[in-house]
Parts: sequence; C-alpha cells; structure tokens
Amino acid sequence: MPDAEAQGADFLQLSRQDAPSRGLTGWLADAIRAAIMDGRLGAGTPLPATRLLAGDLGVSRGVIVEAYQRLADEGLVSARPGAGTRVLGVSRTFPVAAVPPPPAPLLVPPGWRERADIDLSPGVPDLSGFPRAAWIRAERAVLEQASVTELGYGDPRGSLSLRTELAGWLARTRGLRAGPGDIIVVTGVAQALALLARVLQARGLGEIAVEDPGSRGARDDLAYWGLRPVPVPVDEHGMDVGELARNHARAALLTPAHQFPTGVVLAPRRRRDLLDWAAAADGLIVEDDYDAEFRYDRAPVPALHASAPGLVAYAGSTSKTLAPGMRLGWLIPPVRLRAALTEAKYASDLGSPALPQLVLARLIASGELEQHIRLVRKRQRSRRDALLRALREHLPQARVQGVAAGLHLLITFPGLDGSDADLAEAILRTGVLVQPLSWHRQRPGVPGFVLGYAAHTPDRLHEAARRIAQGMS
Ligand SMILES: Cc1ncc(COP(=O)(O)O)c(C=O)c1O
Repeated sequence: MPDAEAQGADFLQLSRQDAPSRGLTGWLADAIRAAIMDGRLGAGTPLPATRLLAGDLGVSRGVIVEAYQRLADEGLVSARPGAGTRVLGVSRTFPVAAVPPPPAPLLVPPGWRERADIDLSPGVPDLSGFPRAAWIRAERAVLEQASVTELGYGDPRGSLSLRTELAGWLARTRGLRAGPGDIIVVTGVAQALALLARVLQARGLGEIAVEDPGSRGARDDLAYWGLRPVPVPVDEHGMDVGELARNHARAALLTPAHQFPTGVVLAPRRRRDLLDWAAAADGLIVEDDYDAEFRYDRAPVPALHASAPGLVAYAGSTSKTLAPGMRLGWLIPPVRLRAALTEAKYASDLGSPALPQLVLARLIASGELEQHIRLVRKRQRSRRDALLRALREHLPQARVQGVAAGLHLLITFPGLDGSDADLAEAILRTGVLVQPLSWHRQRPGVPGFVLGYAAHTPDRLHEAARRIAQGMS
C-alpha cells in the first residue's frame, strides 16, 4: 500500500495528511458538510462512490459509508439504492456570492445589452439555427473513426483532414488556389489578426492601414497586439487605395468582398490598384472574408487571394456560418510568412482543438455545411427583406446601404444634426440596441446605425424599426 500521507482525492481536495489519526469518519463528514453549507456542493451533486473514495484516501470503505450515513441522518444527503448518494438542497441563512454576469464585449457599453430586448448588434447569425443534429451525427462518427494520432498534439497548422477539406471548399466557393499545407487553422479571424500582428511587428512594422469606417473589433484587436491602425477612408468603391498609397503603412486590412460596415464591394479598378500597391510597396494585404457565404442579389466576387496569393493573407471563420462560439477559422498567408505564423500559432496554443476540426471536416465533406448555409441564406434573405420593408414604413428618411449581402445593413441620415451615439442611447430606452456608425469610425462622418438582422424574425425586425423611429423622434 502506498504511503498513507501521500494519499488524497480530487474530491474536495481531501488529503489523508490533514486527517487526524483517530476520528477519520468525523473528519470526512465535517469536510463534506462544510462544502454543502458553503455552496461548493450544490443540490443534486453526486458524492463519489464509497469504494473509489476509500481507495483514493487509503481508508476502509466502512469509514466512507459511515460518514455518508451521518450526513444522511442530518438530512444533507440522500442515498438511494443504485443511484448513489447525492446532496440535498439546504436552506441557506448566509449570503452566497452571486454568479457574476459574463464580461460584456468591449465594444458595447456595460449594461446596454441587459436593457435591450431586441439586440441588433451586427455579426451574429441566428444561433437557434445551429445545425445541432448534423453536428452530433458527425461528432459521433468522428469519435468512432478518428485515429489515436488525430487526438494527440498534432501539426500546429491544424488537422490535415480539415485543411484538406478547407482547401477544396475555399477553391469551390471563393476561388482560392491553396493546398492543405498553405492553411493554418486558427480560433477565428481574431486569432489570425493577433498572429499577423506579432509576426509583422517582428519584421519591423509598427502600423497597419484599416478601413474607415471599418470593423471596430478588428481595429481594437490589432491595436491590442501592438499594431497602430491607420484609418484610410472608404467610399462607394471601397477603400481609397490612392490614400493608402500616400501613407506609409506596409500592411492593410480590408473586407473586399463585403466591406464592414458599409457593405460595398471593392471595385475592380481598386482591386487592381490595391494589388499594384502591395507589389510596389512590398506590402501585405490582409483579407478579412468574414461573411462571404451570404450573398443574396449580387454576383459573387472572388477573394483577392485568388488573384495574388503571394501578396494576400486570407482569413475566414465559421463565426457567421455556424456560430461565433465555435472559435474556428483559417488563415492562408503568403508563403514567406507561413513558417513564422505557424511558429506563432504553436507558441500561442500548440494548435486548435482537434475534435471540432474533425467534425467540421466531416460536415464539409458530406455536403451538410453547404446545405446548412443554403438554408440559412434563404432565411436571412427573408429577414433582410422584412427589415427593408419595415425601414421604408417607419424610417423613410433613412438612406439604406449594403443590403445585397451579409448579416447586417447600414442606415445613414445625411443632413441629420447630432451624434448617432446619443441617438443610439435614446433608442436603447425603447429596448432596442443599435450600434452607431461612429463606433466603427476613426474620423467624423455622417451619422448612422449598423443593423444586424440575421438573428431576428421578421415580426421582431418590424417592431425594432418601429421603436427606432420612436426613439429618434
Ligand atoms: C468584420 C469582422 N471581422 C472579424 C470578426 C471576428 O471574427 P471571428 O469570430 O472569426 O474572430 C468580426 C466579428 O464580428 C467581424 O465583424
């Protein structure tokens, strides 16, 4: 038998070392009672099987049985044959620490989400539409079939089966010419930006051009990781590449297929100018293809990466197609940055979690991801149409932009005096959360709101438009 002093249980971190040499039963009952009373063991929590706990602590099973019996006599636990021993509820006469609310996303001021019963923040798909059944089926199949190697520390670039499926998927849907070896699986576009920021700084870059207006989240991420975001104006053709060329940034982050938040597509002339800029300035284009799958009534635009893989680091994720909580995305950098980025990924987390990667690979291979996207696209299109009708009815003065694709649209109010942030606060008093366009700007501009519609039914969107108008009046 091992040294009694070294014996202990994970359960309540009980250690034989702390027990008196006599009165083991009382010691154990006291420890469990204290944990029930201070809330560490809540109602319904099973106590460990007597045989297992006895083994962990190196005591006879009789000690555990008797301690449990004492607690049962006190009405603190119940023992049912076959069902084990479980904690019963206790009425507390002492304060229990309240569970703190989850941290609010940084962009939205604290307390705002709680005040809204309709949250039109952009960037979130209809989470109730997550393909749970397909995911469970695929996960079961993966668990039945995955090799043990696939569950170990693998290639920091991610599972080969996912990278293979992604290469095919991105070739089919976005025109990319990338092999599995070119792809680094990451935990979302956010991690792609963090890794790029690290690697670019190590190469002497201190700043990166970003679209203005542009994604506040992406801009904040880059700044957090040490790259100064330099605003470059966006007009109806996308980023002003002439202005980009005039400033000295050697990297630029863009959303070319569907500019966030205006929804404009980078015009063909601008695409060519942008690639020329990157080639001449030894610049890097970071392409955030954040919601490319959702296009309703315009022709598809191939990814920039397809035209110049040597100049573009391409990033995408499942945040808009499945759910942001998946934290699953991909980065396809130019060859010259691949090794450094792989190293940065390895240093960050040794690679993304294996199981979700294998499941996603399976959903792509079986066609179920595509089927899901088709379904969601149809639903989102009808939601967009509903919001457009509601805006026409309740806010006819609004200029509506960026309706042809995505999960959000933009309304602006040219000629309106006052701050859109103040208006958003007034609208919040009606229970609707809208993000003012100014949150996504670095320079002043026309007031407006970014309205995410994907997560709401047509009725709720109609109600939201009515209340926005009421809040603005
Ligand atoms: C334009 C844009 N880029 C990137 C992101 C971050 O995406 P991910 O969840 O893939 O990290 C978002 C999130 O909403 C976004 O709107």
